[in-house]
Amino acid sequence: MNNFEFYNPTRIVFGEGKIAELDRLIPAAAKVLVLFGGQSARKTGTLGEVEQALGERQFGLFSGIEPNPRYDTLMKAVEKVREEGYDYLLAVGGGSVIDGTKFVAAAAKYDGDAWDILTSMGSKIEAALPFGTVLTLPATGSEMNKGSVVNRESMQAKLPFMSELVFPQFSVLDPVKTYTLPIRQVGNGAVDAFVHVVEQYLTYPANAPVQDRFAEGLLQTLIELGPQALETPEDYNIRASLMWTATLALNGLIGVGVPQDWSTHMLGHELTAQHGLDHAQTLAVVLPAMLNEKFEQKQAKLAQFAERVWHIEQGSEAEKAQQAIEKTRDFFERMNVKTRMSDYDLDESAIEPLIESLTQHGMTQLGEHGDVTPDVCRRVLQAAL
Ligand code: NZQ
Ligand code: ZN
Repeated sequence: MNNFEFYNPTRIVFGEGKIAELDRLIPAAAKVLVLFGGQSARKTGTLGEVEQALGERQFGLFSGIEPNPRYDTLMKAVEKVREEGYDYLLAVGGGSVIDGTKFVAAAAKYDGDAWDILTSMGSKIEAALPFGTVLTLPATGSEMNKGSVVNRESMQAKLPFMSELVFPQFSVLDPVKTYTLPIRQVGNGAVDAFVHVVEQYLTYPANAPVQDRFAEGLLQTLIELGPQALETPEDYNIRASLMWTATLALNGLIGVGVPQDWSTHMLGHELTAQHGLDHAQTLAVVLPAMLNEKFEQKQAKLAQFAERVWHIEQGSEAEKAQQAIEKTRDFFERMNVKTRMSDYDLDESAIEPLIESLTQHGMTQLGEHGDVTPDVCRRVLQAAL
C-alpha cells in the first residue's frame, strides 16, 4: 500500500425527511443563495421543502444550472452573490448543480479571472464561500468530495478542478427524493458510480486488500441493485443503498494508498464537450475499449475483478479478464446506457477533433502509468466506434 493522507470533512445527513434538518445545519444568521437546475427541484417539491426548512433566514434563488454546468451560467450566479451579498450557498440537485455551486463558491472569493480556477485545476483557490447540498441524483459523489467539473461551451472545454476548500460542509441524502428520476438518469447514475470505483480499482495489485474489498462490495451492490431500481423505482431500501454506494464510490475512501487511472473520465469529458453526451454515456463508450487497450497491464486486476465481482471461475487468467470486460459492457447496456460511439451517431470523423482537444488540454499522460497518450486514446476511440 502507498503512503496516504485522508481528509474528508463533509457531514452526511441521511434518510427520509432529513431536509428539515437544514435549519440546524445552516447558521441562523446566514444569507443563503439556493442554487438549482432546470425545473425538477421545483416540480418534485424538493425546493418547497428546502424553502420551508430555511425558516426565517434570508435567502435568494438561482435557477438554471444545466447538466454539465456551463461556465457562463455560473458566472451569472457569481455576480448575483457579489451584488446581493450572500454568505452561504445551498446546492439542490445532482452532480451538475453541486459542481456548479463549488465553482461559484470559489469564484465569488477569487479576485483574478475566474477561468484561472479551471486552468490551474483548483490550485489557485485561496478561499471559498461555505456551502451545503441537498442531493437529488446519486451518481457523481460530488456531495462528499472536493472535485468539480465545469463546461465552457465557447471553448469546447470541460475541465475539472479540485480543492479542499470546496468540500461541502454537509450533504442531505434523502433517498425518497430520487424516486422521480427519469430512467435515463437512474442508469447514468449507476454507470457513473461503477466507473468511479473501476478508475480506483482496476489498475495493478498494490497490496491494498481493504481498498479492494470495499471496491468489490460497491461494484457488486451496483450490479445487484441498479437493475432493481429500474424495475421498482419506489423501493426505499434499493434507493437508499444505491445512494450511499454512489457517495462511497467517490468520497476518497477507496482511493487511498492505491494507484488510480481516470483516463476514461478525461477522454469522456472531451466527448461531452464536443458532442453533448451525458457524462455516464461517455464512460460507457470509453471504458470497455480502454480496458481492452490496456488488457496486459491490467490483466491481474481484471482477473480478480472477474472472480470476485462477476464470480467467473472457469478459464485462464486472460480468459477470465476478457469475460469480465464483456460482463461490464452488458451491465451498462442493461442499465440502458449504450456502449458504442455509433449508438450516439458518432463516426470516425469525430475522432481527430477529440484527440486534438485532449492534447490541447494537456491530457497527454493519462492512466495509472501515465502512458495513455493521445495515440493510445485514438486507438481506444477507434475500437469504440
Ligand atoms: O436540471 P434539472 O431540472 O434539475 O434536471 C436534472 C438534470 O436534467 C435531472 N434531475 C436531477 N435530480 C432529479 C432530476 N430529475 C428528476 N428527479 C430528480 N430527483 O437529472 C438531470 C441530470 O442531472 P446532472 O446533475 O447533470 O447529473 P449528474 O448527477 O449525473 O451530474 C453530472 C455532472 O457531474 C460531473 C459530470 O462531468 C457532469 O458534469 N461529475 C462530477 C464529479 C465530481 N464532482 O466528483 C465526478 C464525476 O465523474 C463527474 O465528472
Ligand atoms: Zn464520473
